[in-house]
Amino acid sequence: MPAAGLGTRFLPTTKAVPKELLPVVDTPGIELVAAEAAEAGAQRLIIVTSPEKQAVTDYFQPQPELERTLAERGKDALLEKVRRGPALIAAETAIQEKALGLGHAVGCAEGNLTDADDAVAVLLPDDLVLPRGVLTRMAEVRAQHGGSVLCAFDVPREQISAYGVFDVTDTDADDVKRVRGMVEKPSPDEAPSTFAAVGRYLLDRAVFDALRRIEPGAGGELQLTDAVALLISEGHPVHVVVHRGGRHDLGNPGGFLKAAVDFALEDPEYGPDLRDWLAERMSRS
Ligand code: UTP
Repeated sequence: MPAAGLGTRFLPTTKAVPKELLPVVDTPGIELVAAEAAEAGAQRLIIVTSPEKQAVTDYFQPQPELERTLAERGKDALLEKVRRGPALIAAETAIQEKALGLGHAVGCAEGNLTDADDAVAVLLPDDLVLPRGVLTRMAEVRAQHGGSVLCAFDVPREQISAYGVFDVTDTDADDVKRVRGMVEKPSPDEAPSTFAAVGRYLLDRAVFDALRRIEPGAGGELQLTDAVALLISEGHPVHVVVHRGGRHDLGNPGGFLKAAVDFALEDPEYGPDLRDWLAERMSRS
C-alpha cells in the first residue's frame, strides 16, 4: 500500500497529519483498505511510507498501554476498535525517501518480497472500492489468464478526462476485458473507451523490472501506468475487471466529504441524527 505521497490536496492538514489517517467517521481510510486486502486473503501488508509519515505504520502496531487503560475502565467497544487494525494483517514498512511517484513507491516494496511472491497487489489507501471483493475477482482472472490484472470503472464519457483510460477488447466474460493500451486523461472524444483505472492493481512480479526501465514522466515522477504500458508493449497479458459498484476518492476534500457523509449515514450511532440535520440544513440553503 503506497502511503508516502505529500497529500498536497489536503494541505494545510497534511503538514502534520498523513492523509491516509484522516477518519472516515472514526476509522482511517487506510484501515478500511487494509481490511479489504485481508478479506481477499492477503497475509502481509507492506506499507510504503516516508520518514516523515511514521504515524501511518504506527497505526498498525499494538498499543498495550492504551489497551490496558481501556480494559481497566471497561471500555470494551473501544478496546475492540483499538485492536482491530493491528489484528487485521501483519503490517511491515518499506521507505520511500522522496515522493517520486506511485511507480517509484511500488518499486520501493520489492525488497520486502520473498522468492515465493510471484505477484503483488497494490491498493491505494485513498481509494475505496465498494462493495469490497474486487480483489478476489481480480485474482480469479489472473489465475485464468496469467499476467497482471487491474480494476476499471465504467465512467460517464463527459467525466473521462480525469482518469487513465484503457484501450480494451472483449473476452468471454462480460466483466473482463483484455487491455491493448492506456491513455492518461484523454479528452472525451479521444478516449478509447469509458473504462477508467481506479486504485487496485494485481501485478505480476515482472512489474519491478519494468519500473527500472521506464523514464520519469509528468512532474519528474515514475508512473505505475507507464510500467504497465511497457509490459503490454512487450506482450505481457494485462486484463481489467470492470467493477460495477461504487467508489469514493478519499484523496481530495470533496471526495473525502462524500465518503464521510455516506459512511456516517449508515452508522447506527451517528446516522439518524446526521440524516435529520442534513434534511434541515438542506431546507435552509
Ligand atoms: P496520490 O496522487 O493520490 O497522493 O497518490 P499524493 O501525491 O499524496 O496526493 P496529492 O496529489 O499531493 O494531493 C495515490 C497514493 O500513492 C501514494 C500516496 O500516498 C497515495 O496513497 N504515493 C504517491 C506514494 O506513496 N508516493 C508517491 O511518490 C506518490
